[in-house]
Amino acid sequence: MKTAFCSLMVVAGFTVISTAVIAQDQVTFTRDVAPILQEHCQVCHRPGTVAPMSLLTYEDVRPRAKAIKAKLVAREMPPWFIDKNVGVQHFNNDTSMTDEEIATIVKWVDGGAAEGNPADMPPARQFADELAWQIGKPDVIVTLPKDLVMKARGPDWWPDITVDPGLTEDRYIQAIQIIPTKGYPNIHHIRTSMMKAGDSSIHGGAVDGNVELEMVQQGVFLDEYAIGKGPDLFKDGAGRYITAGTKINFEFHIHASGTETPINVLLGLKFYPKGYTPQHIVTSMTVGSNVVDLRPHEADVRSDGYIPLIKPARLLSWQPHMHLRGKAECIEAIYPNGKTQIINCARFVFNWMDNYVYADDAAPLLPAGTMLHTIMWHDNSDSLRSNPDPDAQIVGGLRTVDEMSSAWLSYYYMSDEDFKKETDARRAQQKTLTSTR
Ligand code: HEC
Repeated sequence: MKTAFCSLMVVAGFTVISTAVIAQDQVTFTRDVAPILQEHCQVCHRPGTVAPMSLLTYEDVRPRAKAIKAKLVAREMPPWFIDKNVGVQHFNNDTSMTDEEIATIVKWVDGGAAEGNPADMPPARQFADELAWQIGKPDVIVTLPKDLVMKARGPDWWPDITVDPGLTEDRYIQAIQIIPTKGYPNIHHIRTSMMKAGDSSIHGGAVDGNVELEMVQQGVFLDEYAIGKGPDLFKDGAGRYITAGTKINFEFHIHASGTETPINVLLGLKFYPKGYTPQHIVTSMTVGSNVVDLRPHEADVRSDGYIPLIKPARLLSWQPHMHLRGKAECIEAIYPNGKTQIINCARFVFNWMDNYVYADDAAPLLPAGTMLHTIMWHDNSDSLRSNPDPDAQIVGGLRTVDEMSSAWLSYYYMSDEDFKKETDARRAQQKTLTSTR
């Protein structure tokens, strides 16, 4: 802004400057707001998606200016709930806005939400085709044998379906993608897991606080679909392992859209070539207690979960898991020397089962003997919007109206040698970062 002011002064003289300064100062839709909405909102807010309205044009956005400001200031949109004041801040899938971006939109709304010069409007953003394979041709494609049918109206629905992909051999997975083929605007998210004989298809597993039992009973997380998320491509040398006979469990979260809608999906798995064994096998576990006891109207009830790492590990992603009365969760490392470090904290919003995927240069590297500690907070008061009934006494359980308190973690174990290599590389990189700052 300062540069514009100076150059104008030279070129145009004082009379022009005063109006030029006002024009520069005024936040306009076309110049300032549209680029932010393109980056942070339109992946969901465009025609034909799960979001309730489109935010492409001035005409779309202007009538909703106040609601947008409110959602942004409360950091409820875009749905990214990591606490920015503590822990790791570098993620692969970070959709959050900077304070400056939010300030720009607030200033625009408070200043009358002007359109500005139509010539300033950036070209429309192009989106990846979510309905095409981005992982190349999959080796295995799994689909639901029968469409689910979502009613025209009614509450959200969480159907749970297990499909046998007919795998006759063990393979390492290099990439995974889920494509919604029917009911795209109704699908809020889909979570898939690998089920072996004896696994319970019900997410969450045991409720008695026995973590080992819980791990045995649940399938292992495979992949998640949410709008705009894209496929999961494992980096070279890492992959998931799937064994012959494994079934795939799909857990859906579906919205009604006003018309009865059939729902179906494709899950594509791309394997590493036969005979190739990736160095790192990515797997997942849940950490939590699932022991919850909430009295009516009781707020801020804490529960804790612990799990020891038996080998050095790289943590790849973290996904808090609670139900309707979940409010916040933290994950902490308790190192073998007794020191503790918060890895991350996040608000929990039931509608959004965010999975936070660490960037390569920030994924926590944890020595063998580290205790991972999850801290969950529930809120049974009426101040939590997702709470359907603050008068109820709530315990742990599998139904949506019961509670859970856990987190899904994806990670791989590695040898002491590899761990040393990775930690040395991380140190070197951090040194470079600090010396160039
Ligand atoms: C990941 C998808 C996604 C992104 C990104 C996203 N939204 Fe949303 N938004 C939704 C969905 C879905 C809803 C419906 C309510 C819900 O499910 O939470 C919603 C609801 C809203 C609402 C409330 C609408 C109503 O009628 O109650 C506003 C306002 C909003 N979003 C604004 C934004 C803005 C502004 C951005 C970008 C800064 C944004 N959203 C980014 C998916 C998204």
